[in-house]
Amino acid sequence: MDLCIIGSGYVGLVTGACFSEMGHHVTCVDNDQRKVDMLHAGRIPIYEPGLEELVHRNVSAKRLRFTTSTQDGVDQSQVIFIAVPTPPQPDGSVDMTFIEKVAREIANALKPGQYRVVVDKSTVPVCTGERVAATIQRYNKTAEFDVISNPEFLREGCAVEDLMKPDRIVIGSSSDRATDLMRRVYAPFQAPVLVTDINSAELIKHAANSFLSLKISYINAVSAICEASGADVELVADGIGMDRRIGRQFLNAGLGYGGSCFPKDVKAFIAIAEELGVPFNLLKEVERINAAQLERFLRKMRDGLWVLKEKKIAVWGLTFKPDTDDVRNSLAIDLVNRLIAEGASVTAYDPKGMEKAIEWKLIPASVKLAKTPLEAVADAEALVIATEWKEFQNQDFAAVKSQMHTPLVFDGRNLFDPATMKEFGFIYYAIGRPVVK
Ligand code: UGA
Repeated sequence: MDLCIIGSGYVGLVTGACFSEMGHHVTCVDNDQRKVDMLHAGRIPIYEPGLEELVHRNVSAKRLRFTTSTQDGVDQSQVIFIAVPTPPQPDGSVDMTFIEKVAREIANALKPGQYRVVVDKSTVPVCTGERVAATIQRYNKTAEFDVISNPEFLREGCAVEDLMKPDRIVIGSSSDRATDLMRRVYAPFQAPVLVTDINSAELIKHAANSFLSLKISYINAVSAICEASGADVELVADGIGMDRRIGRQFLNAGLGYGGSCFPKDVKAFIAIAEELGVPFNLLKEVERINAAQLERFLRKMRDGLWVLKEKKIAVWGLTFKPDTDDVRNSLAIDLVNRLIAEGASVTAYDPKGMEKAIEWKLIPASVKLAKTPLEAVADAEALVIATEWKEFQNQDFAAVKSQMHTPLVFDGRNLFDPATMKEFGFIYYAIGRPVVK
C-alpha cells in the first residue's frame, strides 16, 4: 500500500521504516528541512537499535522516502498517519497545536474524489478524533475521508522490535471502509487486532501508560516498606510477579519512571479526567511516589557518605533507560543536578547519552565526562548506578574497586547482585534491599 507518515520523530520514523520493511511504499513528511536533508544523506537523527539498517535497506529498495511536502505525501498515499508531538503544557494538559496544524494541512492537501484515511498515531486526549474530523471538514468541504485512532505502544530502545512484533494493534474507527484499509496495512504484522470506537482507542493509550506507571510506583512504594523492614524488593517482585494475573514486567524498583512518555501521559490523564469532571486521584499518588524515589535515594547517599559536599562521585548512566541516547526527563540527569547542587563533584559516563546531555545543556559544565566506566571511578568516593546499561554489569569489579578512593556503591537500578558486591568488598546500597557492608 501507499502510506504517508507526517512527523519523522521517534514514532513517525520507526513506523515509516517498519511499514516499508513489510513491503508498503512509505512517504515520511517532516517540516524540518534539516532533518529531511539528514535523512536524505543517510544519517538517522536518533539512536534506536536496528533502525539505521532498516532505513538504509528500504530507501535503497525505493520503498521509503522523505519530503517536507504534506501535499506530496497526501497525493501519493491512501492512508495518512499523523505522528507529531503532543507536548505537555505547564498545567499538565496536552498542547494540541501540532495536531491541529497538521489537520489543516491535510485538509488543504485533499483533492475532490480522492478518498483518504487519516490516522492519528500520536498520543492524544480522548475525543481528539472528533476534533480532527471536524477541522478537516471545516477547511475542506469536499474532502472524502475517515479519521482513525491507532495508538502506538513502542518503547524507546526496542522500538523496531515492538513495532514489528506488537502485543496488539488497536484500531479505533467508525467506518468499515477505513477499518478494512487499516487491516490491510497491518496484515503483514500477524498481530492481534482490536477494533474499537475512536474514543476508546484514544483512552486505551493513556490508560495503558498510566497503568504501567502505577505498576512502577506500586513496587517503588513496596521498596520503601522493604527498606524499613529488612525485606528484599527483588524477591517480593519475583513472588508477586509469578502470579500471571500480575506479571513480573514493570515491577523493577528504581529511581522511578522517566522519559518522554510516562511522566507526560500520567499528567495528561489526570488533566483529562479533571476536565471531564471525574478526578483521578490515584494517579496523583502515582506521581507523588515517583517524585519521592529520588529523595529517598539521596537520603541513602547521605546515610552512606554523611555529607555530599566536596565528595567525588562517579555516576554511571545518564539516559532515562538503557539502549537509547534519550536524556530528556531522565532521573539520572536529575540526580546529577541534585548532587552538583549539594556541592559534590561529579564524573559521569554513559554509553550513548553524553553528547546530547551536553548539547542540550542538561548538566552543568562542571560535570566531568569519562571515556569509560573505569575512568569515571578513578579516585571516586562513591559510585552511583543511575541507568541499567548491560555494559555496567560486565565490568571488572576488582579493577573498579582498586580505582576508587572508598568503595561505596549506590545502585539506583538494582543492577548488581549483593552477594557479588560483598565478595569484592564494596559497601553496597540498592533500592528496597538490605545494605551490604
Ligand atoms: C513507554 C511505554 O512502555 C510504551 O508502551 C509506550 O508506547 C511509550 O511509553 C509511549 O507512550 O510512547 P518508553 O517511555 O520508551 O515507553 O519506556 P519504558 O521502557 O516504558 O520505560 C519508562 C520509564 O519507566 C523508564 O524511566 C524506566 O527506567 C522506568 N521503568 C520501567 C522502571 O522504573 N521500572 C520498570 O519496571 C520499568
